[in-house]
Amino acid sequence: MRFVDARGLWWPLAFSSQLDDRPLAVVLAGERLALFRDGAGTPRAVFDRCPHRGVELSQGRVAADGCLECPYHGWRFDGGGRCVDVPFNPGAKLDRLGVGAMATVERGGLIWVFADEQASAEDPRVLAGPDLPDSLEQPGLRRREAEFVWRCHWTRLAENMLDVAHLPYVHRATIGKRLRDATGRSLAQHVEDRDFGFEIHWDETGERDLQDPAARSGAYLGWYRPCLSMLVLSGPQGIYRQHMMSVPGAAGETRLLLVSARRFVAGVDMPLWPAMNWYEDRIINEDRRIVESSDPAIAPPPADERSVPSDAATLRFRKWYWAHRRSLAEGVTS
Ligand code: FES
Ligand SMILES: [Fe+2]
Repeated sequence: MRFVDARGLWWPLAFSSQLDDRPLAVVLAGERLALFRDGAGTPRAVFDRCPHRGVELSQGRVAADGCLECPYHGWRFDGGGRCVDVPFNPGAKLDRLGVGAMATVERGGLIWVFADEQASAEDPRVLAGPDLPDSLEQPGLRRREAEFVWRCHWTRLAENMLDVAHLPYVHRATIGKRLRDATGRSLAQHVEDRDFGFEIHWDETGERDLQDPAARSGAYLGWYRPCLSMLVLSGPQGIYRQHMMSVPGAAGETRLLLVSARRFVAGVDMPLWPAMNWYEDRIINEDRRIVESSDPAIAPPPADERSVPSDAATLRFRKWYWAHRRSLAEGVTS
């Protein structure tokens, strides 16, 4: 099955700023795709393999009519993957010469692709579009965009971003320092279902009633199906939202797309910016080797590893993930 476990879901595959007037090669769950902007500037996605002789369409160019032109013999394909011209063959039966295309949208400064070349434009999952937080589309926040590649399955990276109990160990000298004194108490967590996925609020002090929204601290995590975690920190210095997307890439690889959206109080913004970037990179790299060593590679069903109450959020993710896999296996398409 094409796209394996990524099938039937929306994925962010590139930053908008990466897609100019040339095609861009990306890999989603082992499938090579070519992204390009059509004549209207709308992003499009087709399989990166010409149906004629199998070469990469992404090595071609976007022609004046907004179609993608194969670099080898110049066949041209529109944004829906239909072949519109075959040089030297004016009588060619174009309707059998197309390439598979996927629904694509541009939102929040990202190019999102729906991983199913057979889904129609009227498919409710296509019409619904991707789930993403407002802060990716909110004006007035400054953004940092970065990409990292980890050698692990995307589910292991996705749940690492939802895991609070690892902080005082993996990040003992950075973001986990504050939690080091709290490991003897139970870590209260409240996982709240939302339309887009869930939110996690936690309290290491044992003093707050997490059922009461007013008693929660300003820090929480949001999970947006299938792969986006958002860490929200707000304080007197300003707003900080870290969006981390775990995207299945080439075999054995997961791409971590990071967008941090920040607004600091006047005066501390520019001096803080490079230090924040360095700090984000450091924290992400603290996790990498450890998560890459996970065995089995894919995060297993909830009952298959030993879990404890502080795993509430990662278990919620696993429950969703394995239900998704079951629906794929049963051929349920919506
Ligand atoms: S290989 Fe693409 S046109 Fe021939
Ligand atoms: Fe971490």
